[in-house]
Amino acid sequence: MEKKSIKFMETALRDGHQSLAATRMKTEQMVPILDTLDQAGYYSLEVWGGATFDTCLRYLNEDPWERLRVIRKHVKNSKLQMLLRGQNLLGYKNYADDFVKLFVKKSVENGIDIIRIFDALNDPRNLRVAIEAAKKAGGQAQAAISYTTSEIHTNKYFVDLARQYEKLGADSLAIKDMAGILTPKNAYELVSDIKDAVDIPLEVHTHATSGIASMTYLEAVKAGADIIDTAISPFASGTSQPATESMAIALEDMGVDTGLDTKLLQEIADYFKPIRDQFLADGTINPKVLEVEPKALEYQVPGGMLSNLLSQLTDAGQADKYDDVLREVPKVRAELGFPPLVTPLSQMVGTQSVMNVLTNDRYKMVPNEIKEYVKGLYGKSPAPITKEIKEKIIGNEEVIQCRPADLLDPQLPEIYENGKDFCESDEDFLSFGLFPQSAEHYLKKRKDPFYDVPIQNITVETEF
Ligand code: CO
Repeated sequence: MEKKSIKFMETALRDGHQSLAATRMKTEQMVPILDTLDQAGYYSLEVWGGATFDTCLRYLNEDPWERLRVIRKHVKNSKLQMLLRGQNLLGYKNYADDFVKLFVKKSVENGIDIIRIFDALNDPRNLRVAIEAAKKAGGQAQAAISYTTSEIHTNKYFVDLARQYEKLGADSLAIKDMAGILTPKNAYELVSDIKDAVDIPLEVHTHATSGIASMTYLEAVKAGADIIDTAISPFASGTSQPATESMAIALEDMGVDTGLDTKLLQEIADYFKPIRDQFLADGTINPKVLEVEPKALEYQVPGGMLSNLLSQLTDAGQADKYDDVLREVPKVRAELGFPPLVTPLSQMVGTQSVMNVLTNDRYKMVPNEIKEYVKGLYGKSPAPITKEIKEKIIGNEEVIQCRPADLLDPQLPEIYENGKDFCESDEDFLSFGLFPQSAEHYLKKRKDPFYDVPIQNITVETEF
């Protein structure tokens, strides 16, 4: 019998430090270990996307494109992977197609091999342009399913979605379980079902938040998953991924070939330990994120959302309403057509639930984002929203039926015009288009070391 094998993606350089250390690892802290990482037998390294881009510009005084090029120079064997939020790219709003295409093309040109593309609502229309652009640029397009649970999110629903993504041209698929709620049993069933239905490789991504992730991976591997996402031990566990070394040892012991060199993994862990300890010492890592939080499983609500709700209520002096709000969340989510509780929908559903409870008059106050969501401007809700709820939220206003980005005019001309004084390359213009404020300050400072960056409002990124 052919020996079973599994590939690994290492997340320490993206999701690992994003989930534990607010994405604060600097390029100079990565460089000394890149050659070893490249020799260790990983299929891929996740290095870019999510908050890495914004954090580079805003806090680390680094050019994210330069980080990517530096990593690429050292990494010859493993593939480099990034995370992309479909038509939202790295942000929370839809970008026009011309901007999406240029961003994807430049990402591949600067060194990305695989782009993992997902949409918070699992609306395939929001992935299409990015998938096509990735392939056209010579990169691999990986379509990711945002995993969630609800009465409509059955395994059959996800299998249908997997088929649609394969038809759109995805080179591989991922199950993206950002909340860490995929159970071992359902991992086995879902991976089996998807593998039966499609011919392209399947990667599984989960978080250790609720304490079951390594069991989930074992079952996913048994069911035939091709790749799993893990983090080297100093940046593993808690809200990050299970530890690479532990998974590798357990799987090898079961007769599964991992291709990983455990001696080199040890070296990599030894290298990252003092960096992790420094983050703990200076408070960048809050030890709370390392705890096991089974509540996420109980409420089916991501851990980050629970703590956000509690702090919103505490700020309003209404912490005693916490349980009422927790009961309201699933109601609001059902009424809004069961959106996956991932950024930005998790914040939106949370805020609406808080408003419903505090005003004691449901949907009397509605945030603008919820109105836009109901109008279809984020994409199609997983289940239809009833006429009654629609009327309560947007009255007689029209719901769009087209792909949201179809309503957008090309964006690049304006970005080229507004950034011409401080942008020197397409990469600069893309940084500026994505994060106007922080990119402008970074680029002006690059030109003039005495440029004075004004004090900025800080927003905390909570997407994993
Ligand atoms: Co993640």
